Amino acid sequence: MKSISQKMVLGAILSSALITSASAFDPKELAKRSDKGIKKPVMEYKIPDESTIPNNQFGDLVKYGKELTVHTYKYIGPEVKDENMRFAGNNLSCQTCHLDAGTKAYSAPFIGTAAEFPQYRPREDTIGTITDRINGCMQRSMNGKPLPVQSKEMKAFEAYMHWLSQGIPVGGAKMEGRSLAKIDRKMIKQNKADIANGQKVYEMHCLSCHGANGEGLKNEGLANGYTFPPLWGSDSYNKGAGMYRVLKAADFIKSNMPLGATKENPILTDKEAYDVAAFMNQDSHERPEKANRIADFPDDAVKAPDVYRPGKESIEHQFGPFGKIIK
Ligand code: HEC
Ligand code: HEC
Repeated sequence: MKSISQKMVLGAILSSALITSASAFDPKELAKRSDKGIKKPVMEYKIPDESTIPNNQFGDLVKYGKELTVHTYKYIGPEVKDENMRFAGNNLSCQTCHLDAGTKAYSAPFIGTAAEFPQYRPREDTIGTITDRINGCMQRSMNGKPLPVQSKEMKAFEAYMHWLSQGIPVGGAKMEGRSLAKIDRKMIKQNKADIANGQKVYEMHCLSCHGANGEGLKNEGLANGYTFPPLWGSDSYNKGAGMYRVLKAADFIKSNMPLGATKENPILTDKEAYDVAAFMNQDSHERPEKANRIADFPDDAVKAPDVYRPGKESIEHQFGPFGKIIK
């Protein structure tokens, strides 16, 4: 006869095995659901020339969209004078992550974005529009509220993305530079991210700008943003943001940080990017919660492997190893 404690251990093993197998991420299933039945052409990554923005109502909106991307905190941040305009919950800008006003390759650029929507969104398990996507970042990366669909600001973001996507056919194109460059998926399947090593990487390559406590360097005055943005704390992205996920963060960091790194000329190795991403997002580094995060990714078959919610997913989803949870 088994003792109670043996039974409990067995039960815990069984239930953790259940959690793990039920949430195995299947990239083929995601590809199947995302398929629009459109054959995408291969195209070159091109940043349109700003001097070609027309001097008319449309051009003015495009320019405002760019300005909002660069100086978000000045117009819709938590410190703006007009309380009705406080939509973002932190003082970041869209450009904090979408570098060079959303034009830098492999920093989730807005080049081609307008051509990609509507699209299947696994986080909501529904077809989302570009408006929904912008408000996704508003509520998560910017830790704020959605912009009203009819607001000038929403229209400006959409117009700017539309202008940056010119020449790319509806349905999108295969392009070097879109989205993020992935770090080695074999390595992350075999290894758990090493937070202690991540701290060493942070001290050597990140601390000089982002600060000893990840606090960044805030500019003087209200609604004036940061010279170097915070990486954690109350003025950072929340736990529902893509950057809170270890693989997304590592993919971003490898091709973009320390500032000046590119996909072609990275500064960190894949392993260093993975470790420092885990260091940055570890539990002891506080950041805002996202209300009802538990409702994200309602379908396990397409749930992003690096989404971890205590009590819902097994702990490997937080910092790996991902071998058992990616098919
Ligand atoms: C803390 C980082 C961060 C900030 C700040 C941020 N985003 Fe994002 N955004 C991301 C990440 C990560 C993705 C997903 C990239 C990927 O997986 O390809 C993304 C994706 C997007 C996409 C989809 C792009 C595409 O081509 O499919 C849009 C649109 C977007 N963000 C708009 C915005 C806007 C507008 C703002 C400012 C109001 C903003 N984001 C602020 C991190 C951020
Ligand atoms: C020379 C200064 C500098 C260094 C060093 C640096 N960063 Fe950054 N980092 C920036 C700036 C500036 C931005 C925002 C980009 C912008 O606004 O144009 C940024 C943005 C980010 C972001 C975007 C999201 C956010 O939360 O603000 C992350 C994540 C990040 N850095 C991580 C790192 C990591 C990890 C390292 C070390 C490997 C690092 N950075 C090193 C200057 C730096």
